[in-house]
Amino acid sequence: MTIAADPVKLSKQEVGRAAAALVQSDSIVGLGTGSTTAYAIQFIGERLKSGELKNIVGVPTSFQAEVLAKEYGIPLTTLDAIDHIDIAIDGADEVDPQKNLIKGGGAAHTREKVVDYLANRFIVVVDGGKLVDRLGSSFAVPVEVIPMAITPVMNAIKKLGGKPELRMGIKKAGPVITDQGNMVVDVRFDSIPDPVNLETTLNNIPGVLENGIFVNCTDVVLIGEVRDGQPVVRQM
Ligand code: A5P
Repeated sequence: MTIAADPVKLSKQEVGRAAAALVQSDSIVGLGTGSTTAYAIQFIGERLKSGELKNIVGVPTSFQAEVLAKEYGIPLTTLDAIDHIDIAIDGADEVDPQKNLIKGGGAAHTREKVVDYLANRFIVVVDGGKLVDRLGSSFAVPVEVIPMAITPVMNAIKKLGGKPELRMGIKKAGPVITDQGNMVVDVRFDSIPDPVNLETTLNNIPGVLENGIFVNCTDVVLIGEVRDGQPVVRQM
């Protein structure tokens, strides 16, 4: 494959490669969503094709992951057919020093949370720009909401001090629709001092399906960076 020239792309590519190298034969693999995980899916597929890896089955976290897995020849299964997931690889929009995450930049956080939380080992792959001291510093919290509840949910979020904004489509008129047929509200908070509590509080609003705060679930964070023009992958 061609090496990406853009430093962020190069970081994503190499961190994706490093995560794919952690996958072992005879395992069930959660396949995350987003541009970084896309590289991991590609490299897992290449390892399978070369015979280096055998007997892998993937659990996709989105339509995108499913399409990529099929493109790169990774056999797929569903949660109904398995009793565990050995390893999951997924990206993130923010990572704090406790390895808590904000996810959902691709509106896939609901399925991602189901799959990533089930994994015996959850590997997060990010470029260095995703690291923050405190969640919410640069990214809004995505909240998946069933369509008929959008207005009351947005009102409830405002009462919590959040600034909700309905996510709109690009090259599509109207709101983004998730793989489940719901909508996404991106919520800015001045500060998120207690992500554990906020995750629960948001999910307790009637009409909310799931939010993008992931706490106490990450085993390993791999960070891709470019130093002196060379890609480096380090572990948090
Ligand atoms: C998908 O909904 C997200 O959770 C992604 O995993 C996250 O946005 C990271 O995506 P990138 O790897 O494209 O930055």
